[in-house]
Amino acid sequence: MTTAQNPTQPVNYDIESTVLKRYQEGAKQQEAKLCCPTDYDGQYLKILPEEILEKDYGCGDPTRYVSEGETVVDLGSGVGKNCYILAQKVGKTGQVIGVDFNDEMLAIARKYQDEIAHKIGYHNTKFVKGKIQDLKLDLEPAQTWLNGHPIHSLEEMMQFEAECDRLRQQTPLIPDNSVDAVISNCVLNLVRPQDKQQLFNELNRILKPGGRAIISDIVCDEDPTPKILNDPDLWSGCIAGAFREDEFLTLFEQSGFYGLTILKREETPWQVIDGIEFRSMTLCAYKGENTHEFDRHQGVIYKGPWQQVEDENGQILKRGQRIAVSDVTYEKYSQPPYADDIIAVPPYEEVESPQPFNVPSPSLRPPQVSKGENYQVTTEQTSSCCG
Ligand SMILES: C[S@@+](CC[C@H](N)C(=O)[O-])C[C@H]1O[C@@H](n2cnc3c(N)ncnc32)[C@H](O)[C@@H]1O
Repeated sequence: MTTAQNPTQPVNYDIESTVLKRYQEGAKQQEAKLCCPTDYDGQYLKILPEEILEKDYGCGDPTRYVSEGETVVDLGSGVGKNCYILAQKVGKTGQVIGVDFNDEMLAIARKYQDEIAHKIGYHNTKFVKGKIQDLKLDLEPAQTWLNGHPIHSLEEMMQFEAECDRLRQQTPLIPDNSVDAVISNCVLNLVRPQDKQQLFNELNRILKPGGRAIISDIVCDEDPTPKILNDPDLWSGCIAGAFREDEFLTLFEQSGFYGLTILKREETPWQVIDGIEFRSMTLCAYKGENTHEFDRHQGVIYKGPWQQVEDENGQILKRGQRIAVSDVTYEKYSQPPYADDIIAVPPYEEVESPQPFNVPSPSLRPPQVSKGENYQVTTEQTSSCCG
């Protein structure tokens, strides 16, 4: 079967050049067809110039879920609207890096950098040229090298590839484990199917452990038909490359993310083509940590309302029961997006020599673990109600 993410039949056009060309045009002149109605928090729009407001090609508002002091990368930053909202949200201790492969978009975003810095009182934005599926390669020095070494032969092409590898290694555009949050607004769908897994790997690479991806994108409820997939306008128009909504989450899971949460799913589709609904969805996914897990006698009680839930690692929590978890899971569940749904139960005493966590899920923590070996069971009733 052919889907936007699993191309067993290649499409009959060059996706990347089609996308680049469409958004070069979209930078020159506002293209109404590319605008999907979106609600931003109005307080952050007041200082934005008209040109940035009108060339908005996003489909959601991932900026809502970012906090002060964070370092954030915006993938496919366009004219910089999301970046300039983020600049205000992360404040002067935070940093915002917009990535786009399109000179026209970058030029508009950069044109307003000083003006906006002056308005907000600090400079915390940077716009860089790169492909979002290859965030190690800074395309500006790569272009400079090409200007001095035009390619006419296979050998020269190999020299260029070697130079790109050198740039990736020695001066990576976005280093490993360097950002608190990655956002993107209506861009992931535009990436070629054969590059999509690499794109998810790159999200994982640049995030700090525990960091999060907050992505607004177009999803569909069924696989796009071959007719849709082979329409270049529909690809660059954020339709043909849309993620099937279940696959969108699975791709994050398979790339090692956890705590996936749908933050918003528009009820009304943005477009319906051949009966397939295309709508905006915003989700959040956390980068996992590869650490050894130990048994420190910690437990958690799941509050409900579901009878039981299971996380990406197969840890099952049963409503109302004191379930044994590892130190890593205990720490993870004590933070968003889990913290509101559980009650953390610490051990009575700290475990001095913890053993590797190796209990089947779900297992219960006995009461004496949280109350001590000599705890007293009290049956005496002192009052008819608590408090
Ligand atoms: C639909 S627009 C969204 C722009 C912006 N996020 C917004 O909300 O207005 C897509 C943007 O992503 C850029 N883009 C598309 N594919 C890209 C890729 N593979 N790497 C880097 N930028 C890309 C385009 O140049 C364009 O600026």
